[in-house]
Amino acid sequence: MKYQEAIEKRRTFGIIAHPDAGKTTLTEKLLLFGGAIQTAGAVKNNKIKKTATSDFMEIEKQRGISVATSVMAFEYGGKQVNILDTPGHKDFAEDTYRTLTAVDSVILVIDCANGVESQTEKLMEVCRMRNTPVIIFVNKMDREGKDPFTLLDELEDKLDIKVRPLTWPIGMGDRFKGVYNIYNKNLNLFSASKTKKADDVVSISELSDPLIDELVGAQFAGELREELEIIDGVYDAFDREKYLSGEVAPVFFGSAVNNFGVQELLDTFITISPSPIGRESDLRFINPNDPKFSGFVFKIHANLDPKHRDRIAFLRIVSGRFERNKFYHHVRLDKNFKFANPTSFMAQDKSVIDEAFPGDVIGLYDTGNFKIGDTMTEGENMFYKGIPSFSPEIFMELENLDPLKSKQLDKGIHQLTDEGVAQMFIMQPGNRKIVGTVGQLQFEVINYRLIHEYGANCRFSPKNYFKACWITTENDEQLESFKRAKGNYLAKDKDDNVVFLAETQFLLNMAEQDYPDLTFHKTSEFKLDLK
Ligand code: G4P
Repeated sequence: MKYQEAIEKRRTFGIIAHPDAGKTTLTEKLLLFGGAIQTAGAVKNNKIKKTATSDFMEIEKQRGISVATSVMAFEYGGKQVNILDTPGHKDFAEDTYRTLTAVDSVILVIDCANGVESQTEKLMEVCRMRNTPVIIFVNKMDREGKDPFTLLDELEDKLDIKVRPLTWPIGMGDRFKGVYNIYNKNLNLFSASKTKKADDVVSISELSDPLIDELVGAQFAGELREELEIIDGVYDAFDREKYLSGEVAPVFFGSAVNNFGVQELLDTFITISPSPIGRESDLRFINPNDPKFSGFVFKIHANLDPKHRDRIAFLRIVSGRFERNKFYHHVRLDKNFKFANPTSFMAQDKSVIDEAFPGDVIGLYDTGNFKIGDTMTEGENMFYKGIPSFSPEIFMELENLDPLKSKQLDKGIHQLTDEGVAQMFIMQPGNRKIVGTVGQLQFEVINYRLIHEYGANCRFSPKNYFKACWITTENDEQLESFKRAKGNYLAKDKDDNVVFLAETQFLLNMAEQDYPDLTFHKTSEFKLDLK
């Protein structure tokens, strides 16, 4: 029973946003409500400021901070809330995508003035792949932004999801009066404050209540009544099942920096969000209440101190109870390991734990045995699917400048790609190594670490590829003919899959046209539907 309760209690989620929309601010406010931190400002902004892109130490510092705040757990309303942090900088988007495989739901933060931005779309695409339940928080209502109805239309259009407002703003910017809670029928009046926890909430018996006119003025009250009528006419009533299946996203309005609308968000979140969800393995779907322990590694973090090359592997528990000092099976290596110091991550510090449950993320000290995507079990030989690789955006060829150091370079680049810092594609002839990343910043990280941690001497030279596409087909003949024609643009990824390095969108379109039986995937996620 205790085990079952422990599962039911957990809510593991991530907050995602385009940089600057307010993710860090909202995270901090949630932690304040959860009592995990006492003062605002305690969570360091883990994004790398745009001006500091070439300052490597800054990157390292930020990486260090993001270890400490990688998972932030707190209790609220009888639930254990696990927030999995995602890097704010877009160059680390791949990290974020992988973290999204370890959450059960997300809160998406939107800036009311900017609406849906490029990174919002990409992140949501990843959520849509798994039908991850999404709650949307429209932030910065204290500033002038887009009309709320226009915003809702934009969300539906660009994010390919239906929306359902659960609160509704009254005015915005200088004229922002507050939000009306459609379901609880109360009015939350806005006052700018960065410190207060509770807001002034006024209960309203029905919309015609003259109290509304008194509190926000007749004009705003009139508009509110009209708009709510439209909402009821246009949007279906909120249906939790549709939220859980990723079809409908409830929408909240507020201002994170002013701590406004955050409590409604959190209260609703713990009421409607899913408890830990199982995951698909190559053998079967594994439910959290399956009594045998299993989990997968979705992130690996190198030690900040280059003298100690140990790393922390972040493992999401899918099923069973994890215990300290018990042997577990590392499926890929077919070896058993036990962990003397597994850690949990609270907002400010790490602590050693004796046990952990489905939905939890634990840190395992690693001396190089783990790769992203690895599965640990209580003995069963099965793999969790679906830690996808995404096509990188920037490609460089890695050149060894010192033949005597080629071993170091090889080891270094393999370990770094195991950590997921970058992807590597090997091209023939000559085993040429093409390194691909989402952002420029990773090359600085890789270069610095190859030199300082592995003693390699190397150089990156830019390659003009547009996308790396994984190929699948049932028509082997056509694949062979494609390989003959495009041999110079083919490479193997870490799992020996064939990848087409297309130089331009045009050439990719041509390939699709000329070889209609081949499918070109921009993520390796297609593996999910294989087998
Ligand atoms: P991110 O993690 O999504 O990148 O965003 P972050 O929370 O760092 O917020 C980006 C900027 O937006 C910050 O200002 C933050 O104070 C501001 N912000 C967050 N929520 C609100 C809100 O509800 N209303 C308004 N008006 N601003 C908000 P900054 O100037 O970049 O940094 P800071 O010096 O204020 O920390």
